[in-house]
Amino acid sequence: MRQAVKISDNVYWVGAIDWNLRDFHGYSTHRGTTYNAYLVLGEKPTLIDTVKKEFYDEMLERIQSVIDPKKIQIIISNHSELDHSGALVQTVQATEPEEVYVSPMGLKNLMSHFHQDLRFKVVKTGDKINIGSDVISFVEARMLHWPDSMFSYLEKENILFSNDVFGMHYATSRLFDDENDEKIWMTEAEKYYANIVMPYSDIVLRFLEQLKKMNLSPKMIAPDHGFIWRKDPARIVELYGKWAAQKPTNKAVIVYDSMWGSSEKMARQIADGISSCGTQVKVVSMHHSDRSDVALELLNSAALIVGTPVLNSQIFPSMADVLCYLKGIRKKNLIGAAFGSYGWNGAPIDSVTKMLEEMGVEIISPAVKSPFVPDDKMLNQCYELGVQIGQKINEKLHA
Ligand code: FEO
Repeated sequence: MRQAVKISDNVYWVGAIDWNLRDFHGYSTHRGTTYNAYLVLGEKPTLIDTVKKEFYDEMLERIQSVIDPKKIQIIISNHSELDHSGALVQTVQATEPEEVYVSPMGLKNLMSHFHQDLRFKVVKTGDKINIGSDVISFVEARMLHWPDSMFSYLEKENILFSNDVFGMHYATSRLFDDENDEKIWMTEAEKYYANIVMPYSDIVLRFLEQLKKMNLSPKMIAPDHGFIWRKDPARIVELYGKWAAQKPTNKAVIVYDSMWGSSEKMARQIADGISSCGTQVKVVSMHHSDRSDVALELLNSAALIVGTPVLNSQIFPSMADVLCYLKGIRKKNLIGAAFGSYGWNGAPIDSVTKMLEEMGVEIISPAVKSPFVPDDKMLNQCYELGVQIGQKINEKLHA
């Protein structure tokens, strides 16, 4: 029988580890994920969040290893996305709680998901409930990353349940930060921020200020993905502050695809030009990479250079995909340019410049376009574009 894991006097982890997940709605999860749910014991046993539907049995077994699930009187749904609410209906049927606490937008979104009132009770920032052993207060975290997102704070035990925020897609049987290898988790935490949270970076900065004013100093931060922060909960809060500030570093990202190798040759020349200025460059071929890995590379980048061949008078489909995605994650403080090879219609490459502009990228050069295979002159032009980018990054960093 699966067991719950005790994480403090009255709190147990009753979640599930999804070792095999490799695609989270289009985000490549190379290391799987966890769906963390937490059971808080007291006069009113409380379940904080549930799990993805497929893992309901696993969560129930873990709960059963501690108490009869029927004893659960309160469920808190901090977020309505289905990786946390997918098992909610079954859980409510099995436990028959008195109330299911949700944020105002949680009510709307959960009703839109399940089309039935699961004994919902709306709570807002500052509301508290007494569960006997402890008090749980609520903090709405609107748009981090959905309008319904909410934190629950267990006051006496001093644990902040932060739902998606401060989490990462990382399947691990080691439940705490100090048991996991930073060299691995840092990449997953950065990738999670870049893909899930980055569009809301301004809100993150305001929310971190709000948390500071609340004078919370939680002994643990317990998110719904990845592990629990107990050794140094402040660390992930500081990292969020750094990532949300989106200050560029001395790095550029070139994203491209190629049909017959010409756009690739151009990408490599641009990369050499950038490197010659002492700037780190990451070259990403969309033929071999996932869009969410590009987002990770962009998190600490100062430049985005996009290369596409032209196919049927359009930009290459893989580039349309990644540009659509990158527009959504709204990385700030980027300079950039477009390049690519074409046969007889170079206009689609110019349209990439326009798309970059629409993303808020500061364009530092008109698109560099090569008819079919680039000659030496064209390759020189690509190299010079790289130099221009490297120099501009250096100027910005030293301004
Ligand atoms: Fe982990 Fe927004 O769901």
